[in-house]
Amino acid sequence: MKKAAIIGFGTIAPVHLAAIRSNPEIELCAVCDTNEAVKAAVPEGVAFYTDYKVLCEEAKPDCVHICLPHYLHFPVSKYFAERGVHVFCEKPVALTPDEAEEFAALEAAHPEVKIGICLQNRLNETTEMLKALLDSGEYGKVIGCRGFVPWMRDKHYYEEQPWRGQMKYAGGGCMINQSVHTLDLLYYLCGDIARLHATVNQLLEYGVEVEDTVVARLEFASGANGVFFATNANYTNESVQIRVAAEKAVFHIENDMLVRILPDGSREKLCENEKMPGAKFYFGASHSKLIAKFYRAIEQGTDDYIHVRDAVMSIRLIDAICRSGRADALVEL
Ligand SMILES: NC(=O)c1ccc[n+]([C@@H]2O[C@H](COP(=O)([O-])OP(=O)(O)OC[C@H]3O[C@@H](n4cnc5c(N)ncnc54)[C@H](O)[C@@H]3O)[C@@H](O)[C@H]2O)c1
Repeated sequence: MKKAAIIGFGTIAPVHLAAIRSNPEIELCAVCDTNEAVKAAVPEGVAFYTDYKVLCEEAKPDCVHICLPHYLHFPVSKYFAERGVHVFCEKPVALTPDEAEEFAALEAAHPEVKIGICLQNRLNETTEMLKALLDSGEYGKVIGCRGFVPWMRDKHYYEEQPWRGQMKYAGGGCMINQSVHTLDLLYYLCGDIARLHATVNQLLEYGVEVEDTVVARLEFASGANGVFFATNANYTNESVQIRVAAEKAVFHIENDMLVRILPDGSREKLCENEKMPGAKFYFGASHSKLIAKFYRAIEQGTDDYIHVRDAVMSIRLIDAICRSGRADALVEL
């Protein structure tokens, strides 16, 4: 049995809480949030703190779940890791490539603790099957891919938590906060991206600093081509779409389903993601799966989880897209 604590008890925290409560191997010992108002939602018998350093000292958790605004991910993870506490940190891994490298160096310097990054969509059943199909080589090389994230965030989303609209605290908008999962899956599934050309826009007039719409043309090291489109300015929240065209088959993920597009244009269903009851559909269903895997890795001393070093590329890609957008130029990764 491991003692867990949640640091940051805002929007995403209930998803971690549900995963912890459904796992008999984990006991929630404490919660920390600077906003005392959230205390009312903390389960009875669980200690509440407003200072994570005091929580560390008094509650002595084995593992902390970092559910904080982006700018706090690295410093708070570092604080706990240096005190021998395992860390399960929400995405994004960092604000900038330099910070992501520093985080990876911290991970390497502390092999006694595990630091897991919550890029949970790698564990969706549809992702796992598509990766296995592509890696099998049966369908030939990947020719091209696309990742579309047509989402909507209203003004209230930025007003209720102003850090989400500020570069200093969020590090960006529709990429680092929303579509980082899809960017991550494009290189996870299709291999290294060598260069890209992008445009980065603010279509919404919310008075926030962060981008809301991005289009990028991706050139993979293998020679494959890709298109990435992400927006928070869509009329509504639609399903993420990921399509991969290989030499001998075309695969498509949408609405939590993986299909193979047959030569006559019809779709053969290959598998469907497990649903997370009661949650917003765009959170995905794999938080619990990844959290269970992370605690198994702690228990059994294995390496089978998403490491800091696995997530660094997502931040390098976001940075490259922003640089390309500013310069209107092809950028090398
Ligand atoms: N993996 C996913 O699919 C997914 C989905 C949504 C959000 N997230 C991530 O979860 C993280 C949190 O996002 P959110 O939408 O829940 O944010 P939020 O603003 O709703 O919650 C953050 C909480 O942290 C608290 N906080 C701020 N500074 C603190 C400090 N110094 N010490 C303790 N508490 C502090 C705030 O009071 C707030 O309650 C972000 O990194 C976000 O990107 C991940």
